[in-house]
Amino acid sequence: MAKHPATFDLPLPEAGWRRRFRRRLLAWFGDNARDLAWRRSRDPYRIWVSEVMLQQTQVATVGPYFERFLEVFPTIDALAWADEQDVLRRWEGLGYYRRARQMHEAARAIVRRHGGVFPRDREAVRALPGIGRYTAGAILSIAFDAAEPILEANTIRLLSRLLAFRGDPRSKPGQELLWAMAEAVLPRRETGRFNQALMELGSEVCRNRSPRCDACPVAALCEARRQRIEHQIPVPKAKPAMEQRHEVAVIVRRRGRVLLVRQGDGGRWAGLWDFPRFQVHAENPANLRRELIDNVRGQTSVLIEPGECLRTLKHGVTRFRITLDCYAARYVSGTPNGRADDVKWLRPSDLAEYPLNTTGRKLSRLA
Ligand code: ADE
Repeated sequence: MAKHPATFDLPLPEAGWRRRFRRRLLAWFGDNARDLAWRRSRDPYRIWVSEVMLQQTQVATVGPYFERFLEVFPTIDALAWADEQDVLRRWEGLGYYRRARQMHEAARAIVRRHGGVFPRDREAVRALPGIGRYTAGAILSIAFDAAEPILEANTIRLLSRLLAFRGDPRSKPGQELLWAMAEAVLPRRETGRFNQALMELGSEVCRNRSPRCDACPVAALCEARRQRIEHQIPVPKAKPAMEQRHEVAVIVRRRGRVLLVRQGDGGRWAGLWDFPRFQVHAENPANLRRELIDNVRGQTSVLIEPGECLRTLKHGVTRFRITLDCYAARYVSGTPNGRADDVKWLRPSDLAEYPLNTTGRKLSRLA
């Protein structure tokens, strides 16, 4: 094996190893590829949508979302001309909504810069919002068989084990090594099929907790397997400590309507609508009542009289374990002056058309 010049002194595989690896991997993929909706087409737009959805979401969850999204937005043009609100509504439940907003923005950029045709040029693709090295490599290889490597969670694990790489795959030198490996193993032709085969093997066989080395077509080529250290690779990510948090959402009612606020730019739920929602700190009911009134007024300019707690939901967001109490409240006075665009009184039946986050949608059934 030839020495790799990166910080890590691990050798990258030589030509004979690479040939055997490709041959065995592709033969295995021929027999084992899952029939996934986005594999039935080489339309770069469809592949782009699938790759963005798959970035933080499991294959099984993505399936139905992918089909529905493409029914509503079948082309780059359709997506570009859509309302952001409709795009978010179709993304609802997938989480990481920034992905959808950036994809919408990128579709507009493709219409402006490239006449609505997905570009083939690497730099042009990388210049689009939300498209990094992985996504660009995946789209260009799968749609056009461009000679672009890929590296994502499944391939990081697979390549780290093949190399018996004991360092942190998320570190800069770790990334350099693994990208170099992804490039080294890439064949000259059918790069799209090859990259998908890598991901498939990583996800279905070279699994995180219980790798199925007995079913692996390249087990004999795997350095971690040879050293019996496959369970120690890759080194686990340091997990941040979980933190408890108490939040409140308020359903403010006025003449058959409820008060909703649109989340501003920058946050996790930017562009989505929500009931007034905030963290609370009160230790006793009087202070809690005060916090409810002050926070709702701060967010909406509306004065309320808090009522009963309708429901408590427990959920997790990043490192927070959140207890969310949902209160009813009566409108007392005030108008959301000058905020007509981001504070609205809506009929509960209108909420179906507005993008909400997962807990917001649950609460909407109490409205
Ligand atoms: N994960 C990310 N992209 C994927 C793809 N194209 N096929 C299977 N799993 C994936």
